[in-house]
Amino acid sequence: MSIKIQTLAGYIHEYQKSVLQPDQFWARVAESFHWHKPWTEVVRWNFTEPSVEWFVDGKLNITENMLDRYLYTKGGQTAIIYEPNDPAESAISLTYRELYERVNEFANAMKAEGVTKGDRVIIYMPMTPEAAIAMMACARIGAVHSVVFAGFSANALADRIIDCEAKMVLTADENFRGAKVVPVKAVVDEALERCPSVEKVIVLQRSGGPVTMQEGRDLWWHEAIAGQDTECPATVMDAEDMLFILYTSGSTGKPKGVVHTCGGYMVYTKFTFENVFQYKAGDIYWCTADVGWITGHSYIVYGPLLAGATTLMFEGVPTYPDAGRFWDIVDKHQVNQFYTAPTAIRALQAYGTEPLEGKDLSSLKVLGTVGEPINEEAWHWYHDHIGKGRCPIVDTWWQTETGGIMMSPIAGIIPTKPAYATLPLPGIQPVIVDHEGNELTGNSVEGNLCIKFPWPSMIRTTYGDHERCRQTYFSQFPGMYFTGDGVKRDEDGYYRILGRVDDVINVSGHRMGTAEVENAINEHPKVIESAVVGYPHDIKGQGIYAFVIANMEGRTEENLEQEIRTTVTNIIGPIARPDKIQLVPGLPKTRSGKIMRRILRKISEGITDDFGDTSTLLDPEVVAQIIAGRK
Ligand code: WT7
Repeated sequence: MSIKIQTLAGYIHEYQKSVLQPDQFWARVAESFHWHKPWTEVVRWNFTEPSVEWFVDGKLNITENMLDRYLYTKGGQTAIIYEPNDPAESAISLTYRELYERVNEFANAMKAEGVTKGDRVIIYMPMTPEAAIAMMACARIGAVHSVVFAGFSANALADRIIDCEAKMVLTADENFRGAKVVPVKAVVDEALERCPSVEKVIVLQRSGGPVTMQEGRDLWWHEAIAGQDTECPATVMDAEDMLFILYTSGSTGKPKGVVHTCGGYMVYTKFTFENVFQYKAGDIYWCTADVGWITGHSYIVYGPLLAGATTLMFEGVPTYPDAGRFWDIVDKHQVNQFYTAPTAIRALQAYGTEPLEGKDLSSLKVLGTVGEPINEEAWHWYHDHIGKGRCPIVDTWWQTETGGIMMSPIAGIIPTKPAYATLPLPGIQPVIVDHEGNELTGNSVEGNLCIKFPWPSMIRTTYGDHERCRQTYFSQFPGMYFTGDGVKRDEDGYYRILGRVDDVINVSGHRMGTAEVENAINEHPKVIESAVVGYPHDIKGQGIYAFVIANMEGRTEENLEQEIRTTVTNIIGPIARPDKIQLVPGLPKTRSGKIMRRILRKISEGITDDFGDTSTLLDPEVVAQIIAGRK
């Protein structure tokens, strides 16, 4: 039996056990899974190298715990409900038995195309059940998937393929997103011009639109599965074998491949899914994320299916065909748990309550948010108008690197407080440290959020560059995992996430490195130098503000700004397009040449004085000029 928290006292009891006797605690959770061979040691770790192993020597296959395990008990129950982009297209349900067969069949198809254990497979697909099937088919045969959000550009896709030396790419002809049709196969074709590692591309026919198929390299999904057996023996994996790589942005340079492994990720995602959302058999659960992000991995696919839940996948966007779409879907499928991002809530809030009229939201029991701090106003709107004051909101704080939810109310059990992630889940030991790394104990403190003890689904390494993992997460505060977030612990001991303290910005819940956006801007031939900061944005949470020094010869301000936006879209994708571009004569630098971003951040917020200590500033005149021209 796994651990299911049902009361506040139960939470406190389990939390204490998880800290005092972590081995016993996690062994008890892990025992509820099917293992080919049990572990010999629960956890072995040090945060110096770092080296973290969970369920040492344990053998398993995660898909057996999602599919095979439910064949007898839930074979006829719906595993996935698929709601297409266009509401006129009918929804599709797949039972656990059907999902089992489709995963096995596709696993056999990949095998037939030469994929074997350890090979990397890129998934660049629409939000259709095939994306989830592809992930599980990889896991079935021990291939390592790396899902790339299908909004990334050809260039960004190529970078990821090259970094992990992928052998195969899974994609579609075209994706439907709202009123748009995105030619994803064409994007893949462009990316593959510089990706020699890719041998095969399997293409799902989604739109039926025109594509070019390269002889010998490309084949259709339906042809690949034709005649394949619906039974594929699961490859037995070591608990620490790689399950997937997911690229995410950091404060420097190119995105890094966060590596998650089979055993710990399996144990933690199911445990947190069941407890945080208080999922009960028969409930319909819907997370609106895309499988291209960690939320889609852990809480659309792995967590829910490990728990035998019914998980809804929505292909479209919240405002298509109108701003009532989310609520139509909740009504149509009688959704019980609904999990979305603050940016979506704020965007829908802007339409008022009219889109809610006539929509039956009475099935809702739990509401969730993730990805960025939620402001109190949006929290209350969500609570009052969507939850009708009856549904607890779980404000879940976690990261790509943490694999699963770290801090969150447990629905209906831990009392909520607007904009607070409240308390750590069992097994999670957060600490707040000051700049020198001193732990700040007691309540009413604020500082950097670190975690001092490992948890099963934590990052193991950054693919191909372990030193980068050490440097990024384990060097600033020795002996601890540093999250990059600022946090406050209030007078009640409740945690409130304050946002990033590094050069990472969060735009509509999408994480981006300022350096990454600057590098893209600097690719424009007229750009000499740039500095990017995040500024408060009503809907997106943060907007992108770019200060750019450029050679204006032959350009007007408008056309240069437009060209810069296009450059960023081509290099990263539309999500990284700067909201504001200000052409400046210079940047505020210290005598040693470092950009004083603090000043730029203040200017972007509309603050034009009170810059703190500016004694190291090389040329104060530049600051006055930037203020004069601010957008
Ligand atoms: C960063 C991680 C975890 C899935 C989606 C984002 C911010 C995440 C919250 C929250 C305040 C949050 C943090 C974190 N964040 N959840 N509930 N309240 N901030 O994953 O792309 O890896 O981004 O998102 O700043 O470090 P990600």
